[in-house]
Amino acid sequence: MQLLTCDNVTKIYGSGEAKVTALDQINLSVNKGEFVAIVGASGSGKSTLLHLLGGVDRPSGGKIWIEDTDISTLSEEKLAVFRRRKVGLIYQFYNLIPTLDVRKNILLPLLLDGRKPDEARFSEIVTTLGLADRLNHLPSQLSGGQQQRVAIGRALIYRPALLLADEPTGNLDRKNSEETVELLKLSHSRYRQTVLLITHDEKIALEADRIITIEDGKIVSDEVMKR
Ligand SMILES: Nc1ncnc2c1ncn2[C@@H]1O[C@H](COP(=O)(O)OP(=O)(O)OP(=O)(O)O)[C@@H](O)[C@H]1O
Ligand SMILES: [Mg+2]
Repeated sequence: MQLLTCDNVTKIYGSGEAKVTALDQINLSVNKGEFVAIVGASGSGKSTLLHLLGGVDRPSGGKIWIEDTDISTLSEEKLAVFRRRKVGLIYQFYNLIPTLDVRKNILLPLLLDGRKPDEARFSEIVTTLGLADRLNHLPSQLSGGQQQRVAIGRALIYRPALLLADEPTGNLDRKNSEETVELLKLSHSRYRQTVLLITHDEKIALEADRIITIEDGKIVSDEVMKR
């Protein structure tokens, strides 16, 4: 079943002399439950693609279907709700709220929606992430790897249709990056989560089911890995 489809997606920044075509007519579909790595040189358009898929920014042209919604046509308000409920975004620098403890940071998407947390799911996530004894700590009281695990927890709390990670291990040492990738793989296998992961690390990319290479805003290779 297709979870995501990009139909001639283009993103142009600026105009005149400063015009940059960051994405040039991207066509792409991803099935539910796939684990996809996105690779390519710096400036090739990887983050731009992830931002469009996550509803953080809008395409200049083309359509993006997630499940049965064309997100390029959503109003600002509906797009904000889509972002919160349907996608989990994980960045290189964890983007946690410094004044909220671990529990609140993870539950934030639910709290913003005025929803009551599912305590069983919360407890399963924090146990899996090895954060159960850090729930009352602030982000500044955690290691980099722990902070990234909180960001993963926050991304997973809503059971999003799509988990998007932009170089989530870029700021971590080898051990913590391996742990982070293991947790992404675990959420993929345990929760059948669809994952799109941008990485510069070839070893990490080779763990994915499929590797998409972007060059100058175009997909130049799309390879399903044989196991
Ligand atoms: N807000 C913006 N305004 C203008 N140009 C932008 C903006 N964001 C990105 N670009 C340009 O779009 C192109 C693609 O950028 P993008 O951030 O998607 O690259 P990337 O593949 O993620 O690179 P990196 O590996 O360095 O993170 C680059 O040429 C960049 O300069
Ligand atoms: Mg980037």
